[in-house]
Amino acid sequence: MLDFEGRVAIVTGAGQGMGEAHAKTLAARGARVIVNDVVQANAEAVVKAITDAGGTAVVDTHDVSTGGSEIVGTALDNFGRLDIVVANAGILRVGLFGEQPLEEFWKVFDVSFKGTVEMLHAAWPHLVDSGSGRVILVSSSGLLANPGASAYGAAKAALFGLGNTLAMEGDRVGVQVTTIMPTAWTPMTENAYTDPTILSTLRDTMGPEYVSGFITWLAHQETTVHGDFFEIGGNHAGRLVLAGLPRVFSDDASAESWTEHAAALTSDSDDLEQFRITGDQFASEMIASNPAVKDALAGMNAADLGA
Ligand SMILES: NC(=O)c1ccc[n+]([C@@H]2O[C@H](COP(=O)([O-])OP(=O)(O)OC[C@H]3O[C@@H](n4cnc5c(N)ncnc54)[C@H](O)[C@@H]3O)[C@@H](O)[C@H]2O)c1
Repeated sequence: MLDFEGRVAIVTGAGQGMGEAHAKTLAARGARVIVNDVVQANAEAVVKAITDAGGTAVVDTHDVSTGGSEIVGTALDNFGRLDIVVANAGILRVGLFGEQPLEEFWKVFDVSFKGTVEMLHAAWPHLVDSGSGRVILVSSSGLLANPGASAYGAAKAALFGLGNTLAMEGDRVGVQVTTIMPTAWTPMTENAYTDPTILSTLRDTMGPEYVSGFITWLAHQETTVHGDFFEIGGNHAGRLVLAGLPRVFSDDASAESWTEHAAALTSDSDDLEQFRITGDQFASEMIASNPAVKDALAGMNAADLGA
C-alpha cells in the first residue's frame, strides 16, 4: 500500500467532487490533509468524515483566488510542514466571449490560475524543504476548445504551461510537478449533459475515486513519474503531448506563397513529432532551417534551449 504517514497535503476545492475524493483518499492512507473550500459546510463535512474514519484533517475556507498564502499558512500552523499540493479548485462560467462580462472571465482565471500560482509560490520553499514535494495541477480538456468556455479553457491552458516549466525547475530542487486532465462524475458534470448514456457512463464508470487513485500515486514520495500531462478518467489514463505535423516549406516565404500552401498547412497527418519541452521544438525548427545546426545542438542540453 502507498502510505502517506507523516506527510501533509493541501487539497483545494475539497468540499465536493474530485477534491473531496482526493482529500479522503490521501487521509485514508495517513496524510494529514488541509481540506480547502469556500463552502464551509462542505469542507467541514469532509473533515468530519475523515476524522470519523480515524484520519487527520483541518478545514480551510480561504478563497483560492485571494488566499493562496493563507492556505499554505493553515498547513504550516497546524502541522509545521507541507509535502503535497493538489491544486484542484476550479470554476466554470459559461458565456460566449463577445457576451461574457470581463469580470466574469477574470474570475474564472483568478480561481483556476492566479490562485494556484499564488498558493504554489507560497508553498514552493516548503515543498523544497519536504525533500519529496509533490504538486498536482488540475487542467481540463477545455483547453482544446469548447465554445462558451474561453475563460475556462485559457485558464486551464495556462496551468498546462505553468506545469511544464515548474516540472523542470522542480527537478532541480526535488519537487515533482505533474498536470492532469481529469474526467469524472461530479456536481460540475452531472448537469452538463442530457444524454442518458453519457450520464450513466460518467456516473457508473468514471467516479471521482478513479482520479483520486491516479493523483494519489503521483503524490506518493516513492513515485518517480512526473512532469508529463496525463488524461485520467475511470480506470484508464494516458499521456498527452503537443506534437508537430510535417513542416510545409515555402520558396520565398511571401504572404502570397502561403496562400498556395494553405491546404497542406491545414491538412492532417499521422506523421507526428512530439515536443515534450521548449528545447524539443526549438531544435526541430532550427534543423528544418539549417540541417547543419544539428552538430551544434548535439552538444547542448535540450533544457538549455528553452526560449
Ligand atoms: N468533473 C470533470 O469531469 C472535470 C473535467 C476537467 C477538469 N475538471 C477540473 O477538476 C477540478 C475539480 O472538478 P469537480 O468536477 O470536482 O468540480 P466541482 O465543481 O464539483 O468542485 C469544485 C470545488 O471547488 C470549490 N471552489 C470553487 N471556487 C473556489 C475557490 N475560489 N476557492 C476554494 N474552493 C473553491 C467549490 O466550492 C467546489 O467544492 C476543477 O478544477 C475542474 O475544472 C473537472
